[in-house]
Amino acid sequence: MASESRHDVGAETDFAEGSITKVTVDDRDLVIVKQDGRVYAMPDRCTHAKYPLHDGELEAGKIKCIHHGATFDLESGKPTMPAFKKLELFDATVEEGRVVVTIQTA
Ligand code: FES
Repeated sequence: MASESRHDVGAETDFAEGSITKVTVDDRDLVIVKQDGRVYAMPDRCTHAKYPLHDGELEAGKIKCIHHGATFDLESGKPTMPAFKKLELFDATVEEGRVVVTIQTA
């Protein structure tokens, strides 16, 4: 049965504008991105060759994997070459100054 778990990953002020931060929740490595005042959460794993994304770079609306150059849209997870598979995105919100990530499990 599907369920969801909510995780407080830190104060919003811990995440600087334009930053990519690695966090671990429930033994899962995630990255938290802050861009244009919004927070995004995703696995710390590129869908191309599974290298980490926390050492990547941000472009407007996208995170770029530095290993072979794939980019992923921060709103949709849509990839560019050489990745073909969408990046999973987790719901990330700011609640009373805290960043909260919700993970759905099947
Ligand atoms: S591992 Fe990310 S582009 Fe290849």
